[in-house]
Amino acid sequence: MTHTNMANKTAIVTGGSSGIGSAIVKRFVANGAQVISIDLKKPEVEIGSVHYFDCDLTNESEVSQVFKKISEKHPVIDVLCANAGIVPAWNRIVDTTFSDWKKVIDINVNALFLTIAQGAKLLKKGSGTIVVTGSINSIKGDPNIAAYVASKHAALGIIKSAALDLGRDGIRVNGVAPGPIATKALISRIENRLKTNGGSLDDYLAKIAGQTALGRIATEEEVINTIEFLAIELSSGITGQLISVDGGA
Ligand SMILES: NC(=O)c1ccc[n+]([C@@H]2O[C@H](COP(=O)([O-])OP(=O)(O)OC[C@H]3O[C@@H](n4cnc5c(N)ncnc54)[C@H](O)[C@@H]3O)[C@@H](O)[C@H]2O)c1
Repeated sequence: MTHTNMANKTAIVTGGSSGIGSAIVKRFVANGAQVISIDLKKPEVEIGSVHYFDCDLTNESEVSQVFKKISEKHPVIDVLCANAGIVPAWNRIVDTTFSDWKKVIDINVNALFLTIAQGAKLLKKGSGTIVVTGSINSIKGDPNIAAYVASKHAALGIIKSAALDLGRDGIRVNGVAPGPIATKALISRIENRLKTNGGSLDDYLAKIAGQTALGRIATEEEVINTIEFLAIELSSGITGQLISVDGGA
């Protein structure tokens, strides 16, 4: 695979310690970018050139401090990937506690707002990009995850509005909407559900693959390809959009 040249670019990735975020970090480093990762847990695999910041993105003062620290070393950022997020355990809306609801909204919506509101101030005018990790649940409902669906619909609203607010500064805001991607986080969630509902992981994955146009679930690499595209000049005419990477729903 040919690499995009991101030398001389600086990128911030939230939720860069695992899953999709860690794959973005790896790709951008391979492309030659200086990468900064913000997460509340340590990276599964640490990359020497990456600056890791420990921060709870739902905490306003921690977020302000972390962006202040970043700006001291990197006053201008090219790419902001707002990727951190959680998927709650499965529950019907009537069985969802208010505290569980608020936890999902706090990270998937409030932290996303804080990340963009603070991070956009560092973005290079004329070419800066923001790429949000949304979900197919930004555009469709699913049973048992009302808080998640609501939070990811909100993420799409933030993408569309921020694109309008920042467009005249030459800053583009887009999102990627992955379908199920077999990250460790997703596999462990499915395994937990199967403990209650029965069935095998392979059968479950085959079932969701069978519901797509391509007959397979999209890969993490395919999600990263789209994030990379939205982060660089190749997508220069695109803003306020959410691109699904789901094997064709
Ligand atoms: N894996 C999938 O199937 C899938 C599908 C659609 C969308 N997504 C989205 O992709 C994103 C990444 O998910 P993933 O599957 O890679 O999960 P993941 O759990 O592997 O990664 C999420 C990262 O966000 C970090 N994080 C969570 N709360 C945080 C907080 N308050 N402050 C700082 N960091 C925090 C976690 O520590 C973790 O490293 C999420 O926004 C998720 O909604 C994933």
